[in-house]
Amino acid sequence: MEATLTRSAADLDLDPAAQNAVVTVRDLRVKAANSRGTNELLHGVSVAVAPGTMHGLVGETGSGKSITAAAIMGLLPKGVTVTSGSIKLGDRELVGLGHNELHELRGPAFGMIFQNPRTALHPMYSVGKQMGRVLAEHMELGRKERTERVLHYLRLVGIPDATRIAHAFPHELSGGLAQRVVIATSLLCDPTFLIADEPTTGLDATVQRQILELLARLQEDLKLSVLMITHDLSIVAQYCATVSVMYQGNVVEDGTVRQVLRSPSAPYSRNLLKASRLEFVTQRERSGLTAMSA
Ligand SMILES: Nc1ncnc2c1ncn2[C@@H]1O[C@H](COP(=O)(O)OP(=O)(O)OP(=O)(O)O)[C@@H](O)[C@H]1O
Ligand SMILES: [Mg+2]
Repeated sequence: MEATLTRSAADLDLDPAAQNAVVTVRDLRVKAANSRGTNELLHGVSVAVAPGTMHGLVGETGSGKSITAAAIMGLLPKGVTVTSGSIKLGDRELVGLGHNELHELRGPAFGMIFQNPRTALHPMYSVGKQMGRVLAEHMELGRKERTERVLHYLRLVGIPDATRIAHAFPHELSGGLAQRVVIATSLLCDPTFLIADEPTTGLDATVQRQILELLARLQEDLKLSVLMITHDLSIVAQYCATVSVMYQGNVVEDGTVRQVLRSPSAPYSRNLLKASRLEFVTQRERSGLTAMSA
């Protein structure tokens, strides 16, 4: 029986790509407390996202992907806390920052895209109004400039009739359109870092592809650093440069997508690959496409 590998902060220190990372999580431990006691959810997670790259965070359900993302954003659920470790945005330590400081950072420094765009959008406000409110919170702009900025970002995410959509309410939008609006909103304040937590899971296959292509294009054009959380190794193979594999609250393996998908060393990654997407990778290789970045 092989031992489960877990990545430690010491491994990150040896990794040149982690040295100038935009976001660096080191030895992060997170616990949940309730009336019956406490339960550790993350057992020392280390993840680094290099500038201008898309890093995949993959793993089975319950492995701790969303808790890791929530910890980075300072949005852990009630009763769930960081007990030790570090989360840095550039040189800035985020663990221990107060609610207000984190709130101020969130719009300008990093954006979030969740699985269900409908829960991210306020049902009572038009698209333009809610995007305008986000801008008003984080940027000092006049009314006209705010409107122009909202329309600019709606167009940037592939919504040509931006004015009409700005007047629409969330229930009037299809799932794909709603997710485009969420992406536009996440970009409004020029963040350098985006977390996309299963951004396409609820969408049908064609729309899923369109949204992933859009994220890939934006990542490249705007030189964003993206943490792409997914169950789906084919998404990692196609869109990410590097990847961390999570299993039961640990990162069991990370590296370039090529390394991890070609020769996974952790038993869990090997099983994940075998169970899900090996065929996809070989298919792409057979058709002469470069499935994985170097
Ligand atoms: N609010 C909470 N209180 C207590 N435990 C929680 C809470 N939210 C999540 N957990 C637990 O933390 C662990 C990790 O959950 P998390 O949501 O991060 O998994 P995940 O990898 O994102 O899974 P999925 O792929 O299903 O989204 C799970 O065991 C889950 O039950
Ligand atoms: Mg999740």
